[in-house]
Amino acid sequence: MTETTFKKKILCIGAGYVGGPTMTVIANKCPDYKVTVVDISEERIRRWNSDNLPIFEPGLEERVFKVRGKNLFFSTDVERGIEEADIIFVAVNTPTKTFGEGMGRAADLQFMEKTARKIREVAKSDKIVIEKSTIPVRAAETLEKILHAGEDGPHFEILSNPEFMAEGTGIGDMESPDRVLIGSMDTPSGQAARDELIKIYEHWVPRDRIITTNLWSSELSKLVANAFLAQRITSINSISAVCEMTEADIGQVADAVGRDSRVGPKFLKAGVGFGGSCFRKDILNLVYLCEHYGLNEIGQFWHYVVKLNDFQMDRFVKRILSAMFNTLVGKKIAIFGFAFKPDTGDTRDAPAIFICKQLLEERAHLSITDPHAIENAKIDMEDYNDVTFEEDPYKAAEGTHGIALLTEWKEYQELDFQRLYDSMEKPACLFDGRNHLDHDKLFDIGFNVYAVGKPDRDHFKK
Ligand SMILES: NC(=O)c1ccc[n+]([C@@H]2O[C@H](COP(=O)([O-])OP(=O)(O)OC[C@H]3O[C@@H](n4cnc5c(N)ncnc54)[C@H](O)[C@@H]3O)[C@@H](O)[C@H]2O)c1
Repeated sequence: MTETTFKKKILCIGAGYVGGPTMTVIANKCPDYKVTVVDISEERIRRWNSDNLPIFEPGLEERVFKVRGKNLFFSTDVERGIEEADIIFVAVNTPTKTFGEGMGRAADLQFMEKTARKIREVAKSDKIVIEKSTIPVRAAETLEKILHAGEDGPHFEILSNPEFMAEGTGIGDMESPDRVLIGSMDTPSGQAARDELIKIYEHWVPRDRIITTNLWSSELSKLVANAFLAQRITSINSISAVCEMTEADIGQVADAVGRDSRVGPKFLKAGVGFGGSCFRKDILNLVYLCEHYGLNEIGQFWHYVVKLNDFQMDRFVKRILSAMFNTLVGKKIAIFGFAFKPDTGDTRDAPAIFICKQLLEERAHLSITDPHAIENAKIDMEDYNDVTFEEDPYKAAEGTHGIALLTEWKEYQELDFQRLYDSMEKPACLFDGRNHLDHDKLFDIGFNVYAVGKPDRDHFKK
């Protein structure tokens, strides 16, 4: 295809964890569309154009390499991108506000607003503008006001198309989604824009999986979907605390509960708590929304999900402390896994950050290892001295008093734990924050084993 024969030109503003992979999938599935991804970060764009992509996601690299330079382009020229686009996805970051009104709860929409202003300033023709970022319900109203402010200009039709992919399984999630959600205004131009977007997804998504709603339902559904997912993790984590006290086993309880088809087995695995850039932020955003509308009890209900998640991480640290005779001064602990989940290098809001900082407060020395997240972990822990980073888990464990497994990377199941044990100080503790390892085997090797939602297993005489 040449410039003039592409059916439509798509632009995505924001080349992050969402913008990069989603546009890569669209470009792969729709060779008749030209897809350009722009970002204000020169470094990010440089890496998208290199062999060393800025994010790790299984299956991403080969898909980028297949279409980059053909119908997928990465650029810092935001203005040119806007000028030539028919359809603009906005996938900029929408973090929690860290200042002023709504601090710690509301979404910080400054990047969204700057983007809308830039589109209004540069665009000379009508465009469809799609909210891909997760934003508060009714944010489209604000976008609409900004885009249509001032004298007569081009017409912008706003759609909501929240992204449901999960990092680590992002490519599969996008290539065979449970659903694609498109919210639009119930007007002829709104419906026409919605149909344009449906045409894109129909290249690979069965039509019955493409749900269309009004704009506000679509915006709210994304927040609610994340709140429900996080709530499920918190529910099982709360029960893990009860298991640790009663000698019930969280794995057995989760299995028994999840076999009920009304409950289902997914997202019932206890661990050190949820992380990632979305769950906490989106729940807090929902809490703020509830409070804004005077629905304080509902806000409190959801806020408690976040509080219990903090409690779960805190409990894990206290268990380490207690197992190591209530002092970590001068002791070395290996951290196995820093990413917030396996198959990603993303460490945003990772439980590892909170847990490591708490352990350092107790004056432990940490050696952190992770197959893909060391680069980000170094940035997260840059203010701390007593931390070293090791690519090799065997080196990370050498001379330590304990290993804390915080991310369930598959490769950790394949390690030689006898070798690890032999290189450690004794008693050697293993804290399995994801119930990922074979605890019987570890115990037989000689480890004292502490797993979430399971009784302590140590070799001390009772
Ligand atoms: N990460 C996920 O798994 C995920 C999943 C679903 C939805 N979301 C939502 O998608 C949105 C983006 O998330 P992300 O993880 O990709 O964030 P990110 O921080 O990785 O990427 C956002 C990018 O936008 C760029 N940007 C900011 N302002 C800009 C501007 N004015 N012009 C051009 N570029 C600009 C930033 O430089 C950054 O590279 C958020 O709203 C998030 O809640 C994320």
